[in-house]
Amino acid sequence: MSNVTIVTIDGPSGSGKGTLARRIADRLGFHLLDSGALYRLTALAAQKKGVALDDPAVADLAGSLNAHFAADGAAFLDDVCVDDVLRTEQTGALASQIAARPDVRAALLARQKAFAQAPGLVADGRDMGTVVFPDAPAKLFLDASAEVRANRRYKQLIEHGLSANLTALIDEIRVRDDRDRDRAVAPLRPAADALVIDSSDIAIEAVEAQMLEYLRARGIC
Ligand code: C5P
Repeated sequence: MSNVTIVTIDGPSGSGKGTLARRIADRLGFHLLDSGALYRLTALAAQKKGVALDDPAVADLAGSLNAHFAADGAAFLDDVCVDDVLRTEQTGALASQIAARPDVRAALLARQKAFAQAPGLVADGRDMGTVVFPDAPAKLFLDASAEVRANRRYKQLIEHGLSANLTALIDEIRVRDDRDRDRAVAPLRPAADALVIDSSDIAIEAVEAQMLEYLRARGIC
């Protein structure tokens, strides 16, 4: 893995890390790992098979997930495109419940590490810099207030012609944040050596510029 450069981008949902991880990966010509999608796919696989989220069989499902991603990032489960249902708040909430389980996290570890292919990888998630790629030479942590993140999500939903309730979204985001931050295994927190950027009051282009400056300083772009 020594000829593979890894850039980790962690942070809560709605911090903009998904969009930025894709932009940075495209710019560097690196592979992209959307680790949240693996937790979401595991939750969907459990639902599809009628397996309860607290059943030990969920870890087996995680370990044997028949999933792949198209070039544009669209996710497939058992060769069926599940991208729409995958990205809903409901699936995110289910993913966050199974993500608190150590057996599920362990079952997904090797699969995440396998994304590290030359010339490099941008890994997006919650524990990329702390657990999955602790030796990465570049670690970023994106944050933003729950209100700002809920507002961004609200706008996205309205733009897609879907109904949305801002107060409910803020509550959902807070519940998911608390679960991700307070869990015993791989809690959401910046690695000690990560650059933390709060994007609450800055446009995405300015955040991207800060990230690129950080990567340039490390000779990565
Ligand atoms: O990033 P995304 O919103 O798709 O993640 C869905 C859920 O999966 C998160 O709320 C979190 O609980 C879990 N997750 C995780 N570790 C990761 C990525 C996601 O625990 N590396």
